[in-house]
Amino acid sequence: MSRFKVAVLGCGSIAKHRHIPEFAANPNVELVAFCDIVLERAKAYAAQYGGRAYADYRELLAAEKPDAVSICLPNHLHAPASIAAAEAGAHVLVEKPMAGSREEAEAMIEAARKHGVYLMVAHNQRLMPPHVKAKEILASGILGRVLSFRTSFGHPGPEGWSVDGRNSWFFDKQRAIMGAMGDLGVHKSDLIRWLLDDEVAEVSAFISTLHKESTDVDDNAICILRMRSGAIGTLVASWTYYRGEDNSTVLWCENGVMKIGTDPRDQVIVELKNGETQRYSVGEIATNEKQTVSGIIDEFVNCLVTKTPPRISGEEGLKSLNVILAAFESQATGRTIRL
Ligand SMILES: NC(=O)c1ccc[n+]([C@@H]2O[C@H](COP(=O)([O-])OP(=O)(O)OC[C@H]3O[C@@H](n4cnc5c(N)ncnc54)[C@H](O)[C@@H]3O)[C@@H](O)[C@H]2O)c1
Repeated sequence: MSRFKVAVLGCGSIAKHRHIPEFAANPNVELVAFCDIVLERAKAYAAQYGGRAYADYRELLAAEKPDAVSICLPNHLHAPASIAAAEAGAHVLVEKPMAGSREEAEAMIEAARKHGVYLMVAHNQRLMPPHVKAKEILASGILGRVLSFRTSFGHPGPEGWSVDGRNSWFFDKQRAIMGAMGDLGVHKSDLIRWLLDDEVAEVSAFISTLHKESTDVDDNAICILRMRSGAIGTLVASWTYYRGEDNSTVLWCENGVMKIGTDPRDQVIVELKNGETQRYSVGEIATNEKQTVSGIIDEFVNCLVTKTPPRISGEEGLKSLNVILAAFESQATGRTIRL
């Protein structure tokens, strides 16, 4: 079988740590092109993996006609690049947050539908082994219903992550649209929707820029969520956890509690009301420092190989984005927002 021709748009940190190596390791993929506005970055990957380098993604799409693209660009380019790729007949894997607004996300979904291509959002938290295990335990029914929860993602900020360090687009509202909420919060809105198999019904939020200098994007957010089931909980995103990075979720349920990512050795711990404790060592939750294979690329390629629409679809990405957009609306209006 011939391999899928894939192009990577944006050759910064996420492309370097996950997309490019994971595509390169997939036998069904041929990396044919790389694009970065800093052409040298694209050229370096083309030299390493083969394929051609471009500074302009529209030029790449016209010249290469790839079967699929990975969009690893700054947030404000997710929608225009996804739509351009769909119009060029390419399947799209887009990084999160899928877009900066509901309208943009809907236009992406519509473009994919119209041109008969897949649109998948790289919500990789769903694929992390501790989260997969947690979902399995919830489905077993042993814990009963989830009553309340907290889910949080905090690290020291993108200056230690982005290829452009302190000068990164992550700090520029024009290009980032949102800060810690778009970077980290949307991971957790997606995770909690998926884990609980439930939708967020109401959001109330405090969102601030507390400590990062010369930026107009948020670096901290604390949100209160009410799910349709009635469960209530908090969602936290922070770029100022200078020590004590946190990527954990705790679910308090009818029959006990499940702690995910609170213990470095046993990533999932179930403590039941009857005194019994179950501990699972299933592999780590990826962090900026500790990169693990995300699995998101293999899942995307598998959709192409098996002609199966992605489960982490544009529609799913939009629902997770809507929670974050509602949180900003709550911050702006001082009101609780119903979804
Ligand atoms: N799924 C995850 O866990 C995860 C983790 C980190 C980042 N991300 C997402 O990945 C995306 C990229 O983030 P990153 O961390 O790689 O950022 P980065 O700053 O490291 O890299 C961005 C790259 O895009 C390039 N670029 C900027 N404008 C361009 C343009 N017009 N055309 C071509 N290239 C352009 C930059 O030169 C840079 O090389 C973001 O949307 C981010 O939210 C996802």
